[in-house]
Amino acid sequence: FTAAAVALTMSVSAGAVAAACDDGEIVIKFSHVTNTDKHPKGIAASLFEQRVNDEMNGKACVEVFPNSTLYDDDKLLEAMLQGDVQMGAPSLSKFEQFTKVFRLFDLPFVFKNIESVDEFQNSEAGAAMKESMTRRGLLGLGFWHNGMKQMSANKPLLLPEDAKGLKFRVQPSEVIKAQMEAIGVSPQPMAFSEVYGALQTGVVDGQENTWSNIYGQKFFEVQDGSTETNHGVLDYMVVVSTDWWDSLPEDVRTQLATIMDEVTAERNAAVAQVDAEARQAILDAGGVIRELNAEQREAWVSAMKPVWEEFVADVGQENIDAAQAINE
Ligand code: LMR
Repeated sequence: FTAAAVALTMSVSAGAVAAACDDGEIVIKFSHVTNTDKHPKGIAASLFEQRVNDEMNGKACVEVFPNSTLYDDDKLLEAMLQGDVQMGAPSLSKFEQFTKVFRLFDLPFVFKNIESVDEFQNSEAGAAMKESMTRRGLLGLGFWHNGMKQMSANKPLLLPEDAKGLKFRVQPSEVIKAQMEAIGVSPQPMAFSEVYGALQTGVVDGQENTWSNIYGQKFFEVQDGSTETNHGVLDYMVVVSTDWWDSLPEDVRTQLATIMDEVTAERNAAVAQVDAEARQAILDAGGVIRELNAEQREAWVSAMKPVWEEFVADVGQENIDAAQAINE
């Protein structure tokens, strides 16, 4: 390297553009679907990119492709198994084709808050879930948090009856479909990148998501408002193909895993703040947020919680019990 080349590499890796990888470096394409700013996943992926590119320069190089610019989540895992992309962090609802264990996280009202989710994921049963798909060629490197989900629609929602007869975009999860059907909503699975347009043109009436996604995708601009239901969790698993991971030189794999663990711990610890800032940013931009009183909230719980029964066999009663114990 000349001094100029080193300076160029440093300025590129410090900026928001994808780093230019050098010859001989292991290139790690990291594809995701959200924005990078004020977003838990966007911030974590960029931090991982920056740290690998600073600390492993010459050995490995991460290029983050945010905003579905490389793949939508429904294409990502197949592309990863083909070796076309090396890392991603889809939400846990997007692994349906590979495992049913993550259905636990989609059950409505099963986790009280993100701290409970964190505690469960760090338990033995939670940590084992990272290896639930190795037979299918995928390995989880860590859970990244986003936040609790809220409901939004083109009309005010205070009780579940208010949503009856509406069409809601959902992630491709059987649990979420059942949850919507339980309140008389017609669930429409759709890629994240298509939701804004579908809400704007009235193809769907509403959707459920976290504050950072409602803010980052500007859903609040094309909805009457959002209702703070906190009815479920949206979390991610950072995933790689076992073939690719096992093919890495051991020192590279170890260093990547260490950086991943540190980024995961740092960003998960900061997630409540990112969530709160996105909520506030919606209000500052003129978005409407409705809070529920205890009675209204109870109506959502009793309408949606019965779907647990359908999925006990997939998720294991012991895991539901463990989640409940942590909530207390
Ligand atoms: C969604 O599809 O709504 C989310 O999974 C998007 C994301 O990655 O947060």
